[in-house]
Amino acid sequence: MSLTRAAITSVGRFLPKRILTNKDLEGIIDTSDEWIVQRTGIRSRHCLEPGLGNSYMASRAAKDCLKRVGVLPSEIDTIIVGTISPDMFFPSTACLVQKMIRANNAWGFDLSAGCSGFLFALTTGTMFIESGRYKKVLVIGSDVNTIYLTPEDRSTYVLFGDGAGAVLLEPSVDPDLGIIDFEKRIDGVGEPYLQVKGGGSRRPATLETVKNNEHFVYQDGKTVFKYAVKNMADVAVAMMERNNLQNSDLDLFVPHQANLRIIEACAKRMDLDISKVIINIDKYANTTCGTIPLCLYDAVDQGRLKKGDRVIIASFGAGFSWGGVYLRWAMNST
Ligand code: UT7
Repeated sequence: MSLTRAAITSVGRFLPKRILTNKDLEGIIDTSDEWIVQRTGIRSRHCLEPGLGNSYMASRAAKDCLKRVGVLPSEIDTIIVGTISPDMFFPSTACLVQKMIRANNAWGFDLSAGCSGFLFALTTGTMFIESGRYKKVLVIGSDVNTIYLTPEDRSTYVLFGDGAGAVLLEPSVDPDLGIIDFEKRIDGVGEPYLQVKGGGSRRPATLETVKNNEHFVYQDGKTVFKYAVKNMADVAVAMMERNNLQNSDLDLFVPHQANLRIIEACAKRMDLDISKVIINIDKYANTTCGTIPLCLYDAVDQGRLKKGDRVIIASFGAGFSWGGVYLRWAMNST
């Protein structure tokens, strides 16, 4: 019996209206547009208005995704939200999204895997479709990262933005198209290098955790950088080798957008021309779980993806967590 393949059949997104440029940050912290662009490739980022929460963005990305393909929320059977910034510990953001979009027949959950949350959610949804049990899985990557930033740490303050992307997974009509292969990995060695220490069960919120800035992101940038380049490049190359792909066979590489220098290093390891890499870190900064669906959205919007195209996706994030996906694009060009 042949496997039911999962295919992405729609993409959607939501970006908050408020944009902060590097120049704007120069007025808040000791930094410069030149430093940020040279070290990261970032020029601006979107910021959600305080008090709205992740579900505000995630539900709008979901609605956009469904509207584009004419699927009703009531047809969705599963909602998976990859995120590191849920509205609250519980209930899950997926429950809030379910209510906001009126997906009355859905079940779902949040998936926490650092910046790999969307890739892990995408491949989890893929297995649900492959099992034959579910037919319409909404996969969302959404993060309000600005809640984790303090002007007291300029090295992280400039790196992150807010944003959400969503894709719809359905059984592929063409068995040659859709999600073909993937690999996912975690290694807890990453714990001290990239974390939000306070607010969980080990260090619940107290006056002391607030005073010590434990509710903001901490990153040892240099160490994370080294692991990111190695693991993202390794998994992308593994996807190519396992699927007998030469660099000339590949149409698009979709990397997590944490740093332009990491993206360029991965492309080099894959021996891939940079014109085959989707890059939008300049506009959105690192939106953690949002980066990959926002890249897919931009690729579709810019006409850079056509039916049958061979695509590799790669992610890396806190944990550490990382992964790769090989797919053949199944959507018609718009
Ligand atoms: O998505 C999750 C995964 N995350 C990542 O993959 C991020 C990986 N890491 C990185 O992208 C980079 O390490 C950073 C962009 C975070 C930092 O770049 P770097 O080249 O490693 O810079 P650095 O931390 O070594 O800092 C170099 C200098 C330091 O000054 P001194 O000590 O050389 O005098 C910093 O104090 O740059 C200074 N610096 C800044 N200067 C202006 C740090 N942050 C800033 C800033 N503006 N915002």
